[in-house]
Amino acid sequence: MYSTHFLDIPPLSHASGTVVLPGSKSISNRVLLLAALSQGTTLVHDLLDSDDTRVMLTALSQLGCQIVKNGSSLGSTVEITGLDQSTSLASAKLYMGNAGTAMRPLTAVLALLAGGSTEFELSGVPRMHERPIGDLVDGLRQLGCQIDYLGQDGYPPLLIKGINEAKAFNLSEPIKVRGDVSSQFLTALLLALPLVATQDIVIEVKGELISKPYIDITLNLLSRFGIKVQRDGWQKFTIPAGSRYQSPGSIHVEADASTASYFIALGAINTSSKSTNSNENDVFNGIRTSIRIEGVGADSIQGDIRFVEAAQAMGAIVTSGPNHLEIRRGAWPLKAVDLDCNHIPDAAMTLAVMALYADGITTLRNIASWRVKETDRIVAMANELRTLGATVVEGADFISITPPTAADWTTGAIHTYDDHRIAMCFSLAAFNPAALSIRILDPKCVAKTFPDYFEALFSVAQTAVSAIPVITVDGPSASGKGSLASELAKKLGYHFLDSGALYRVTALAALQQGLSLEAKDEIAIAALAESLVEKLHLRFDGDAIMLKGEDVSHAIRSETGGMHASQVSVLPLVRQALVKLQHSFRTLPGLVADGRDMGTVIFPDAPFKVFLTASAEKRALRRHKQLISKGIPAILDDLRADLEVRDKRDSFRSVAPLKPAQDAKLLDNSDLSIEESVDAVLDWWQSKQGF
Ligand code: DC
Repeated sequence: MYSTHFLDIPPLSHASGTVVLPGSKSISNRVLLLAALSQGTTLVHDLLDSDDTRVMLTALSQLGCQIVKNGSSLGSTVEITGLDQSTSLASAKLYMGNAGTAMRPLTAVLALLAGGSTEFELSGVPRMHERPIGDLVDGLRQLGCQIDYLGQDGYPPLLIKGINEAKAFNLSEPIKVRGDVSSQFLTALLLALPLVATQDIVIEVKGELISKPYIDITLNLLSRFGIKVQRDGWQKFTIPAGSRYQSPGSIHVEADASTASYFIALGAINTSSKSTNSNENDVFNGIRTSIRIEGVGADSIQGDIRFVEAAQAMGAIVTSGPNHLEIRRGAWPLKAVDLDCNHIPDAAMTLAVMALYADGITTLRNIASWRVKETDRIVAMANELRTLGATVVEGADFISITPPTAADWTTGAIHTYDDHRIAMCFSLAAFNPAALSIRILDPKCVAKTFPDYFEALFSVAQTAVSAIPVITVDGPSASGKGSLASELAKKLGYHFLDSGALYRVTALAALQQGLSLEAKDEIAIAALAESLVEKLHLRFDGDAIMLKGEDVSHAIRSETGGMHASQVSVLPLVRQALVKLQHSFRTLPGLVADGRDMGTVIFPDAPFKVFLTASAEKRALRRHKQLISKGIPAILDDLRADLEVRDKRDSFRSVAPLKPAQDAKLLDNSDLSIEESVDAVLDWWQSKQGF
């Protein structure tokens, strides 16, 4: 996950390959609640691991559910043992974050389960307190539930109080609930009311029900848990008397169809599958030229799967098999559409970004629910589309987008309003014909449904190597460039190349094989350097450096390790052998490379080069302090003498001598802390970016 303040996505040109998507948020949270209400244990496969499901899991375990997790990422399982409903639940304060799929159903369930003096307080992030819940509360109050607003009327936070007189709910009258603000109110009632189905319970929907496909998910899952709701059109639902939740034993969560929309769009705008011939093979010379999505197919129970039809209308070529989708570019530019999106409210945001690549004005209608989601999505989408140069008209329940011409594209920082879908769909703007980078602010907001979204995007997206930014940080030993470069990489979400470590590891491996570090063994050492990854299994695992499965970080970081590295680094064949490996670090979204010749030899085309300097005296002092603090004895004068020897060897060797690249920015950090140096470099970089 990217926890940086922003993520700059370089201009992208192609995409191909396979993505395995995480479980659906809507299915995950419904399944968790149903499992909690069923007797016995339910094994849930492929549960989504995200902010919203974590909120639900925490709340359920606070209420007394037993939850056992096996594994924490994709493919994991969670075992839920249902709540013991024979004893009444204890009072609790539950935090719902910004998860509507937890807030609404738990409100209904707890309002029905609270007995006697029990009280439940349900609250969330500030935005949750702006998302309406009044219609659900009204529905529950008709039944006799006691719910108070702790803030503004009609909105969370809520206080749910127990009912004293033996749960005499008023079930004979149909329960009326509005369906035109959020379908989650109806879902909440449908999920909760079987708890008290001593007689047939009828729910009547007032107003035109929106987002019907989400109700279909609810009904489908209820049925998997033994509750067969009778549906008359979309206005009347009956929960039969005697309904009881029955665990299916184990249940599989489909991948999220709304999340699939970003990758379906990616397939539709991707040039590597450029084709108007729908029979063309998706695999060419063994290389996939399309996007394949695993985990969800066209037969999905999720409404947002109908995004496929919308994408096809815009020109995508989509084929589907059991549990997978395959997408290629068809029409190009995409075809502008005028669509009623009531049935795909979440995925429709992706259409709004696809509209940037269309041949005319795209209008998305019947999307009033956007206004009450994670943020007011109509306003947010309009603002951010304008940042990219589009002309946007927004109405109460529609948005109309005229794309910029290729020359009129602009860029800027895309605000994401703590809304995962905005962050995800705007990443697709990186395919713009003007080859502009796109800055996504607060990229970690994708954690709501897909913490590793950007990693998944970068695993299938490609661009010209020259378009991937590299910041080179060169300088002498102990100039602090390692700390500066790794900190910079962290702040930008870029990869980090510690090229010195490659020379250190090469020297270590050579010594382990009984080689000398002299020119006479140059060919053998170069052969070792060449095979560091394939044969010696060199791996970077966080801060650890693994060689043949062994952590060698300590061994190579010693002063002697540095001296040995300096010795092998004068051998031209060794330097040559490490070039390919160093280039392989230049992957999306960018790289910070630390060394001696990063800006001069390895990445001469880097858009930004820094050369750090500091006096030998200062550097020796820093190194001395560092060693002493680690309890390693050190003599200042010796350190300084060693540094001077290494400086000399690094600077006067015939190949790639240590010197600043002509276009490097010099930074003398003798009197700067690491933070100050990082800030100075970041400022320079930012001013070059122009965001
Ligand atoms: O950065 P460092 O102290 O880990 O580097 C160890 C030695 O490796 C250094 O003395 C010179 C050599 N080196 C090099 O020649 N070129 C690089 N790009 C990085 C390191």
